[in-house]
Amino acid sequence: MTSTVTKPTIEELKPGVKAPAKETLLTPRFYITDFDAVANMDLSLQEEEIETMLNEMRADYNRDHFVRDEEFEQSWDHIDEETRAHFIDFLERSCTSEFSGFLLFKELSRKLKDRNPPLAEMFHLMARDEARHAGFLNKAMGDFNITLDLGYLTKNRSYTFFKPEWIIYAVYLSEKIGYWRYITVFHHLEKHPEHRYYPLFKKFDSWCQDENRHGDIFKALLRSQEGMWKTLKGRLWSRFFLLSVFVTHTLTVLERGDFYRSLGMDPVEFDKEVIRQTNNTSARTFPEILNVEHPEFFKRLHRCAERNAKMAEIDKSKGPKWLKSLRKLPLAAGTFSDFVRLYLIKPIDAEAMRSQVC
Ligand SMILES: [Fe+2]
Ligand SMILES: [Fe+2]
Repeated sequence: MTSTVTKPTIEELKPGVKAPAKETLLTPRFYITDFDAVANMDLSLQEEEIETMLNEMRADYNRDHFVRDEEFEQSWDHIDEETRAHFIDFLERSCTSEFSGFLLFKELSRKLKDRNPPLAEMFHLMARDEARHAGFLNKAMGDFNITLDLGYLTKNRSYTFFKPEWIIYAVYLSEKIGYWRYITVFHHLEKHPEHRYYPLFKKFDSWCQDENRHGDIFKALLRSQEGMWKTLKGRLWSRFFLLSVFVTHTLTVLERGDFYRSLGMDPVEFDKEVIRQTNNTSARTFPEILNVEHPEFFKRLHRCAERNAKMAEIDKSKGPKWLKSLRKLPLAAGTFSDFVRLYLIKPIDAEAMRSQVC
């Protein structure tokens, strides 16, 4: 679960190629897993669902969606420097995250090829989508004379090992929260086209349907493993991953509040909306969801974000490293204690809700 910071030397980077952002807890992660365990997973409980999803993926609804039409053929000099910097940061982060999905799915497809051909095909098709997404974002960066060296990133980024169960919880959530992020921005800009300063945002509607489908595939994988939702352990892990993903989301959105403000959005409201929707969606898959309407929930989350901002300020300040670590310690302890308190808020039993609906 540890990662090392790998920064390229100046000589290694070509002109116009951006050095990857410094790795922190908030940068998108690159995962590897126990591929043998995935190959041996019994999926019989969700066989039909997986077959349906495989057919959907083969249909390739977005085959012609990621095309740079004439709207992209123009100069972007009118975008002011500040907006441009926030937008490039957004592009880089999104591109890295899409690309990390591509690498994981590609590796899963490769390793499962002989042992579970239908699942290997599914991962291959998901890798196809993520490669398109990453490529499209990287081309957008090219409009600002910057590209990410994805080959360099593949070789030099550190990888985090996650057990297959953790991969399933984490990827399910990252696909669904990705869906809600894209669609929320899209709907906002539909109502306020005056803030749509770059045509990429117009592509978010069909784009997010890819993420929604990927999420549904991971839903089928999760529901095929009874231990992931029928047991106490499954409930505790579900809550842990929901909270981890929501904390990361809040910290990231509020740290990059200026980007959302450049789109005419209120970052706090955007953060809450995406978390509420992702939490509700997760009730279809997870045994428990979080009580995000609890009066303490967003209060504590936002306190974590404030502490995060203070820690970033300390990082930027002058002084020896040990002193910075010492100054950050009470802030980190406060965030840890808030995380525990949030984890202990009584969750909502999604299984009970499901049986009532049926
Ligand atoms: Fe994607
Ligand atoms: Fe995806």
